[in-house]
Amino acid sequence: MSDHKTPHPEEQRLLAGDPETTGHSWDGIKEFNNPLPRWWLWTFYATIVWGIAYTVMYPAWPLINGATPGILGFSTRANVAADIERFDAMNADIRTRLTEVELAAITLDAHPDLYNYAIQGGAAVFATWCSQCHGAGAAGVQAAGYPNLLDDDWLWGGTVDEIHFTISHGIRNADDPDARYSEMPAFGDLLGDADIAAVVQYLRNVSGQAADVTLAAAGEAVYLENCAACHLDDGAGDRFLGAPNLTDAIWLYGGSEAAIEHSVRFARFGVMPPWSAQASSAGRLSEDQLRAVSIYVHSLGGGE
Ligand code: HEC
Ligand code: HEC
Repeated sequence: MSDHKTPHPEEQRLLAGDPETTGHSWDGIKEFNNPLPRWWLWTFYATIVWGIAYTVMYPAWPLINGATPGILGFSTRANVAADIERFDAMNADIRTRLTEVELAAITLDAHPDLYNYAIQGGAAVFATWCSQCHGAGAAGVQAAGYPNLLDDDWLWGGTVDEIHFTISHGIRNADDPDARYSEMPAFGDLLGDADIAAVVQYLRNVSGQAADVTLAAAGEAVYLENCAACHLDDGAGDRFLGAPNLTDAIWLYGGSEAAIEHSVRFARFGVMPPWSAQASSAGRLSEDQLRAVSIYVHSLGGGE
């Protein structure tokens, strides 16, 4: 930039009719003082007006606890809530019927609309509330004692009514007085090491795994005396007590020698929270949700 007071050798010469200049000149080129085009100026003013109007009408200025709400009361959150309410209202009728029809009668043949709604709604409930323990695919987590719900092997019963009861009240929790309950004693305090080693081999044998047959034979007496009351003489388990079948290949905590010994020595105490909001303050599911997820879980196992 040069100063207009020391003229550039190739100073631009102003012609008649040229607009006035701002007085600036760069390398001899002078800056005309042209007004902005009208259309541009008015568009510019319009955007300012529009901008102010927008911040008055819609949520805009951030404050400490949120933004100014805007006089139109627009809120995407409220829109979502309204949508949810609309869908709820659409399903209100089917949800009421789901709680009224006898649970065991809700089958694909007898009530296809209710059944399909329950499977879909039940899958959504399961994904939200159950998958963290039982796994997204409901296959459970062995060793942690979260049972597989896909096999048709049930601790507490596999009819849809039994499943509904288990889910409603939970298992061994302190929140619901009707929770399924039983407690295997920790045999580490009750039996000697030799008896424990023998009964572990006995269980390995009856579950069809490699075992020390001499020890296993000795373990039978230990088993009949200490364990059969709950797991039954043949080891098939007792659903009334939630005592698992010990002869199948399905293990809640594991069928290795170490896992069985741990179960016997320290016992386990699998806890599931109650889910019925009606039965317990800790419950989170309404009756129609409970029924939906019961039908869903029942369908996974093949259903007794
Ligand atoms: C905090 C972990 C946890 C959550 C969450 C959970 N469960 Fe369970 N569930 C368990 C445990 C542990 C057991 C096994 C308890 C036992 O040893 O009897 C179980 C057992 C069950 C059983 C009994 C299975 C049988 O063989 O009788 C059903 C059915 C069941 N859960 C369904 C559900 C459903 C449906 C949900 C979601 C609404 C759910 N669970 C959420 C931990 C959980
Ligand atoms: C009072 C009833 C009761 C008695 C007696 C009892 N159990 Fe159990 N047992 C259970 C219950 C209930 C479970 C389910 C686990 C839980 O508490 O979460 C279980 C679980 C087990 C498991 C784990 C099974 C798996 O699938 O992982 C083994 C192994 C076992 N018991 C062996 C024994 C042996 C051996 C004895 C005798 C020395 C015995 N139990 C006596 C009730 C009993």
